[in-house]
Amino acid sequence: MTEEKGHRCFAGFYDRLSRRAESTFMREVRPRVQGAARGRTLEIGLGTGAGLPYYPADVTLVAVEPDPYMFKKARDNIADLKREVELQQAPAEDLPFPGESFDTVVTTLVLCSVTSQMKALGEIKRVLKPGGRYHFYEHVRYRNPIGGFAQDLVRPIWSQFGGGCSPNRRTWEAIEQAGFDEVSIEHESPIPPIPPLCFVRPHIIGFARKAGESS
Ligand SMILES: C[S@@+](CC[C@H](N)C(=O)[O-])C[C@H]1O[C@@H](n2cnc3c(N)ncnc32)[C@H](O)[C@@H]1O
Repeated sequence: MTEEKGHRCFAGFYDRLSRRAESTFMREVRPRVQGAARGRTLEIGLGTGAGLPYYPADVTLVAVEPDPYMFKKARDNIADLKREVELQQAPAEDLPFPGESFDTVVTTLVLCSVTSQMKALGEIKRVLKPGGRYHFYEHVRYRNPIGGFAQDLVRPIWSQFGGGCSPNRRTWEAIEQAGFDEVSIEHESPIPPIPPLCFVRPHIIGFARKAGESS
């Protein structure tokens, strides 16, 4: 995604599209993911900023969002929130931060949309301090072949209208293979298996720890 390109419609409708999710299962998820952040924290793919109210007050918040339309919405929402957040327009695959600069990195519903999960996870590992933690919540590919096949079929059209989202990724495998010291992943299915939401389930929640001692 370049600075000029973006997903104007997706960004425009995103808060309305996600309202129900935010008032139901995401209310349980965000305290476990954003709410568990510690120290200097980076949220990648901030979207409109739905996770921001859940961070503990003593966390130093930095965020990146590459899509220019989402970025503008996030900036406005941050102003309303009256909390200091350093926001930059940048993708997960090329983070504009020195190595070992964050205690916590967070993604929620982002690894479905990145261009390269391998590069994004490599960058997350690079910017984490030794002993730092990556917290994630992502929707992923069905582990049963019929569900996965349905996600493969729907992916081109889903991606076009869903801001570049690919629902058929084995994201848990990418995280397990990214070279973290310790990885904990729970598989969940918080939404009913009815169209169209059946294509963006199941979900994973967990954390990965970078090797080393935290200071
Ligand atoms: C489904 S939204 C989730 C937004 C937010 N994380 C949340 O939980 O509400 C996906 C977000 O990932 C962003 N995104 C897409 N490609 C990205 C990339 N390569 N690097 C970082 N973020 C990306 C999109 O612009 C969008 O804001």
